[in-house]
This record gives sequence, C-alpha cells and structure tokens, in this order.
Amino acid sequence: MNRPTPLPADPLLANKVRTVLLRWYGKNARRFPWRETTDPYRIWVSEIMLQQTQAARVVDYYLRFIARFPTVQALSKARWREVLPLWRGLGYYSRARNLLLTARVVSREYGGVFPSSDDELRALPGIGAYTASALRSFAHNVSIPAVDTNLKRIFSRIFSTEKQLSDLFKTTRGALLNHALMDLGAEICTARAPKCSVCPLRSLCPSAGKVSAPQKKKNRSTPTPRQALLLIHRKRGTETSFLTSKTHRPNRKTPSLPIFAISSQKNLRAEVRAKAFESLGVELSIRPPREIRTINGIPTAICRCQVLRGKPSGKWVEEEEIRRVLARL
Ligand code: ADE
Repeated sequence: MNRPTPLPADPLLANKVRTVLLRWYGKNARRFPWRETTDPYRIWVSEIMLQQTQAARVVDYYLRFIARFPTVQALSKARWREVLPLWRGLGYYSRARNLLLTARVVSREYGGVFPSSDDELRALPGIGAYTASALRSFAHNVSIPAVDTNLKRIFSRIFSTEKQLSDLFKTTRGALLNHALMDLGAEICTARAPKCSVCPLRSLCPSAGKVSAPQKKKNRSTPTPRQALLLIHRKRGTETSFLTSKTHRPNRKTPSLPIFAISSQKNLRAEVRAKAFESLGVELSIRPPREIRTINGIPTAICRCQVLRGKPSGKWVEEEEIRRVLARL
C-alpha cells in the first residue's frame, strides 16, 4: 500500500512568517509602558508582574511601582513593608519577595547593573528560563525567542522542525518579533477557539482552521513531588561542597541533606526558600528542580541551591561524600 509522503518542510517558511508577523505587528501592536524602554530593571519588573497576570491589569501596578522605585538600587534599599502595598491585589506574593531579593543581589553583587548572561540571570531568585530570555531579548537585544506557553502553542501549530524556529529568530528584530508573537498568542492564536480567519499567518499556517480545543491531560507521567531535597552547594577554588543538616542520625555518621515537606506545587521554590530560612537561617537562590526521585516512597524534588545571604547552621561536606549519600537514597 502506498503511504502518503509527508510534505517536506518549507525552507522559507520561517522567513515568510517573520516578514508577515513584523508587518502585522507594525499596524496592530498593543502599547504598554514596558515596551517603550530597554532598561533591564523596568523590563524585569514588568515581566515578573506579567507572570500569571493579564497585561491590561498590570499597567497601573507597573506605573506605580516604577514611580516609587525607579531604579534597582532604590528597590534594593526598600523594606518588605514598603513593597507589599504596591503589590496588593496582584497575588502570588512570592513574586514580590523574589523581586526584593533579586534587587538586593543585583545591587550588591553586580553594582546595580543587571547581568546579561542566561546563567547569571537564572541564578537570581524568581528568574527562570522564560524571564531570562525575555530580559535578554527586550533589554539586551539578543535575538532569541522568549518561550512561554503562548509561544510554544504558536510554534507547534506552524512549525514542524526546530530549525524553522531558530531560523525565525535570525533577525536583528528579535525583540519586536517576541512582542508580535505575544500579541498574536493573546488575541488571535489562542489556546481555545483560535481566530484563524483573521490571523495574518492563515495562508502560511498548516494548522489554520484545523485546530481543536486542547484535551485535558489525564495521567501525569511524572509524580507530583511532596518534599524537596536541597543540594546547597558552594565553590571554593576548584572544590565544591554541600551543606548538610545538623541533625545527624544518632547511630550513623552519614550526613543528612536538608529535606522539607512541600504543600504547593505552584510555589514550591518560594515555600522551600521560606522553610530553609526558618530552619537553616539562610536566604537561598533555588534552581527550578529538574529531577524528581522517590525517597522512602515519597516523590522528592531535587533542588540545587546557593546561599545568597546568611551563615548556615550546618556542615559543609565534600562532593564525593554527597555523591555516596545520594547513591544510597
Ligand atoms: N506577557 C509577558 N511579557 C509581555 C510583554 N512584554 N507584553 C505583553 N504581554 C506580556
């Protein structure tokens, strides 16, 4: 039986999509105050506020916040009780706490200048892959996609190869392109009932008119973590060591790594940070966990962390020994 041969990917699709999108954005851009600046501080504040919150709602909060704290130095000197009222109503208060923590790190460790590398940005509290890319794109004009769920959805509808996506961003206008994609995702290429008939990409998009509403996921393939194990590390020269808890098990010399129960998936890192502060006396920067392991039957998120502030009340143990501990878990 003859199978239909899939059409080869159009090598020019990315170029065509870029041209059409930028032209469309030129005429239809939504205007927001954070789109009129390249100041990394202002862009960062807007991006944190925009997490889980609609852009139109953010405008007033953003303007008030910037008027009160116009620079990262100004924010770094603030007390929490001065920041909180400006956030009231936006919800997800861990975002505001992280904002303050990061302002202090940037002020203290980077002389008030936001770093521009992905690694450095992602080591800051509250900054993950998306926010780091958005900051690098909007403030530093690095031509990379700021991939959030909207962009993922658009790309999956239009493109069939990774190369097409990287070709799309072969342009000096990457920041405009990200804004264009955000607007397309918010207004036309929505998750449910996309408006394909008015989409500027309708003649290029293989999914135009064929999109069905997404199915709800039934089975999660990875278990939901109920506790977090902290790999708090520090580097001294070439040696890396890890913080162990003070509470050693009585009859064993095995060091134990800090573990905290977690109740909310959404604010996992904020919860762990608060608990670590309480019991270890340190402020941590925590990377998004990449691994979930079952420890004593409990799904456990493995979190790599660094101490931002404070002297921890535990013992630093060499990497080698920690490897042995982890292997036994
Ligand atoms: N959501 C996230 N970043 C945004 C931006 N720069 N403009 C509008 N909505 C956004």
